[in-house]
Amino acid sequence: MDTGVFVQDHAAIRDEIRRLKEERNAILLVHNYQPAEIQDIADLTGDSLELSRAAATMECEVIVFCGVDFMAETAAILSPGKTVLLPAEDACCPMAQMITADELRLVRSRHPGAAVVCYVNTTADVKAGSDICCTSSNAVDVVNSLEEEEIIFVPDQNLARYAQRFTTKKILPWEGFCIVHDRITPAQVQEVKQAHPGAEVLVHPECRQEVIDLADHVASTSGIIKHVCSSAGREFIIGTEVGILHRIRKDCPGKLCYPLAPAAICRNMKKTDLGKVRDSLATLSPRITVPEDIAARARRAIERMLEV
Ligand code: 13P
Ligand code: SF4
Repeated sequence: MDTGVFVQDHAAIRDEIRRLKEERNAILLVHNYQPAEIQDIADLTGDSLELSRAAATMECEVIVFCGVDFMAETAAILSPGKTVLLPAEDACCPMAQMITADELRLVRSRHPGAAVVCYVNTTADVKAGSDICCTSSNAVDVVNSLEEEEIIFVPDQNLARYAQRFTTKKILPWEGFCIVHDRITPAQVQEVKQAHPGAEVLVHPECRQEVIDLADHVASTSGIIKHVCSSAGREFIIGTEVGILHRIRKDCPGKLCYPLAPAAICRNMKKTDLGKVRDSLATLSPRITVPEDIAARARRAIERMLEV
């Protein structure tokens, strides 16, 4: 198939993006699950924690967030003076829709002595109703940093149960889950392990406990990448969304990585494309804003996490 025109289009759009970025004093923050061509134009590619930190500290006027809505919202909360753009307006995280602020208030009223830890994959008003946020890379440290002995953990039950392994506190999990990771089964792990018996199995803590039990290492997306790069091993089975493989192959070209579940694709993460990034820089839209009363309370929960 002749893809010459297509490749040429991409090159032209990339040039426009570069020019617009300079004109707008913008930076491109890109999650590890984004399509390859978006990762390749990033100023920073990372996991949720790294991208939140960057949003809070990087010098620029505009942040183009290539990821899903809660990530851009978090950036907007942390950088009220900056324009935050989400090029794929309808890119959302279904897990973040699995709990509302009203539901959180109700569960909180039933456990008045408990602290509320919310995974960063939540809406701004759920963050506003929480004591502290966490990401997949710091959930255990966040839980253990709290004085309270009872912890309401929302919305990811798998991450909550994973954190429970490393604390004596009592964690009360909300029953949300990631529709991509929760589908991965122990049978898939056994099958890929049989095909690659020498490979280390690395999985994301959004996976089910039965899958985690079969893994050699559990980490956030950037934690998985760092582990592959620094391990003496050569072969790895990667149990998370497949977009991560592009970054692993770029960062650690000598390693062999096999997807644990080739169908583990987050459709929302794939909604960004080069044209949308260019258009959003040209029009400064779709812009993500959070009402200041909600943002102020959500900011406390996120900043408390960043201090841990
Ligand atoms: P991390 O990149 O923080 O590991 O999170 C993965 C994720 O669920 C993004 O949706
Ligand atoms: Fe949400 Fe899962 Fe997609 Fe992450 S991979 S954005 S948790 S649906």
